[in-house]
Amino acid sequence: MKKLFSVSIFCSSLFITINLAAQNPRLTLDLNKPGANVSPYLYGLMTEEINHSYDGGLYAELIRNRIFKDNPNTPEAWSVIQEGGAKAKIQLVAAKPDNIPFDQRRQAINGALTTCLQLLVDTGAGRAGIANEGYWGIPVLPNTTYKASFYIKGTESRPFAVRPGAPAPAVTVPVIADNTAGPITVSIESNDGKTVYASGTINLIKSTFWKKYELNLTTAADVKTTAAAHFVISTNRTGVYYFNLVSLFPPTYHDRPNGNRIDIMRLLAGMKPAFLRFPGGNFLEGPKLNDAFPWKSTLGPLENRPGHTGSWGYRPTDGMGLLEFLEWCEDLKMEPLLAVYAGYSLDGDHVDAGALLKPYVDDALDEIEYVKGDTHSYWGAKRAADGHPAPFKLSYVEIGNEDGFDRSGSYDGRFAQFYDAVKAKYPALHCIATIGGKDFLGLRGKLTIRKPEVVDEHYYRNAWEMEEDASHYDNYDRKGFKVFVGEWATREGAPTTNLNAALGDAAWMTGMERNSDLVIRSCYAPLFVNVNTATTTAPKAWQWDSDLIGYNTLTSFGSPSYYVQKMFSNYVGNKIIHITATGIPTQTRPVTRKDSAANKLPQPIPAMFYVATKDTKTGKLFLKVVNTTDKPQPVDIDLKGAGRISPEGTLVVIKSKKPGDTNSIDDPEKIVPVVSNVKGISRQFTRLFDPYSVSVLQISTENKQ
Ligand code: AHR
Repeated sequence: MKKLFSVSIFCSSLFITINLAAQNPRLTLDLNKPGANVSPYLYGLMTEEINHSYDGGLYAELIRNRIFKDNPNTPEAWSVIQEGGAKAKIQLVAAKPDNIPFDQRRQAINGALTTCLQLLVDTGAGRAGIANEGYWGIPVLPNTTYKASFYIKGTESRPFAVRPGAPAPAVTVPVIADNTAGPITVSIESNDGKTVYASGTINLIKSTFWKKYELNLTTAADVKTTAAAHFVISTNRTGVYYFNLVSLFPPTYHDRPNGNRIDIMRLLAGMKPAFLRFPGGNFLEGPKLNDAFPWKSTLGPLENRPGHTGSWGYRPTDGMGLLEFLEWCEDLKMEPLLAVYAGYSLDGDHVDAGALLKPYVDDALDEIEYVKGDTHSYWGAKRAADGHPAPFKLSYVEIGNEDGFDRSGSYDGRFAQFYDAVKAKYPALHCIATIGGKDFLGLRGKLTIRKPEVVDEHYYRNAWEMEEDASHYDNYDRKGFKVFVGEWATREGAPTTNLNAALGDAAWMTGMERNSDLVIRSCYAPLFVNVNTATTTAPKAWQWDSDLIGYNTLTSFGSPSYYVQKMFSNYVGNKIIHITATGIPTQTRPVTRKDSAANKLPQPIPAMFYVATKDTKTGKLFLKVVNTTDKPQPVDIDLKGAGRISPEGTLVVIKSKKPGDTNSIDDPEKIVPVVSNVKGISRQFTRLFDPYSVSVLQISTENKQ
């Protein structure tokens, strides 16, 4: 329809009149047609140990390399303190398990804590000790109590006993006057040691046995916030001291011991996520067959957790263990979505289905039992012993991760074996397959033995690709499998995404939401990034560009993509509203490499995206519109069958001037959603959508079907 009259639009308190000569895009929302249900689990979180997501991230531990296993060649993150004439040195002990020198034996605490740090103080005139630089610093905040703990052996200056017939050790521990008992000072200090922010002492007893010491360190009210600090354990007495499992925790979310960072948990809570997919991602699998997420050795006291190789170039402590993942779910009222290791590893090895795979299937059944078994089951009882008798709700289990990478074709058999075993024990549990979908990895293989109920699809793309394919799910077969979009992101901006990525995300999300009868769950990835760059003593913290939530040692922020996630999951109804659209503007996508190869010209693709849902309890309508262009976009909106409509609504908009604009640690809220009241809503009205914006218009109707 050609507009030959002027349209009045109320924008917050601002009244704008636009003369519209050209045809506006028109969205006709048909509230008479009962739409499909929106999946209540549509928006969730995906997480794994990447980019220092937990160690140096969500998991609140402040000591880096607390069990000295990060690097077998050097005590990374640790240094020696020698002041006022004291002479001391530090040395890793038993760091290479396959080759432990004779004089470094007999220092293990248990099978998990096998490497430790030796401090040798041979002149105690001043202060000698060990210092830890933390994860890119230690966060010092005023009025804050930190919980410190560590193991020390006070005296070990006896010469080593030599086994009969064995050669005498080449190196011996020097015999130092045995005076190591007495006070040991523990402090959080400035890096130059001149300012002590918090300090306390423990009374070291004379013992050749390991003993755990614990104390609280509290900062004063006038302490200035800083991350330029380190943690020090020091003495003024000579001796040989051995340290292990050195830990320092700030206050945590819900005060959980061994818990999570409060600021990051609050950002997550704001997203109202319905589920958490964990523990990966690549982190589930690991490079080699023995490197999968070792859930059994992530349980119980930290003393029993040796950590493991990990998948992203650093060694995870596994302080964020299976129960911590589950408690994280509990804290944010998310349902766990557990991925179980299915016998394929990142370097390409796989375990054949059949007898060889059985131990892996049994291991997965044990893990599921730990999550949802009652306390009479073996693993349910173990969970109770670990402090959580109540079982967790678990309705979906994912079998493996990205098994499209397994070129052997073994997944068909592996999936069937896991599926049968899971279904035999837990008939109501849904098994998610990682191939068989229409993503690039899913298309690489077919499942022929068992039909998957749900398939995980992954999409990492740029904004053009997301926008071009935003109607991806419109024509999926409704009689086949349901879709879990278990990893996806518009990858623009680093380390966190920019507005253009958020526009691509929003376009893609309109398609998932419109099809959420089919797309029953979705989660963006990666979720976290520690944004610290390399220092002289610590590497760059992240491995993957374009992440959702960024943080450093002190603070955290959401990317524009984060806010789009938040808007979509906070403003959504339970029924999909059918929309007929006309006159949707287009934009020209530049040629891709594939296009040039096929001699294709630049392609027109949509420039505006939309979806509407309704809350049948309240009659509230949520219309989401994405304008990817640099022009304000007037849109005619027609609400068919809405009944009485309130002329006043609420508008939530996220936008910025340039698509490359972003949030950062120094400018964390440059781009955030702004909420305003709008007037002039009626059965038919016109609304102007800002350039480069994502908007949610909330309209109150009396239609509650
Ligand atoms: O999200 C980052 C990685 O991308 C995941 O670990 C993996 O599953 C995918 O390839």
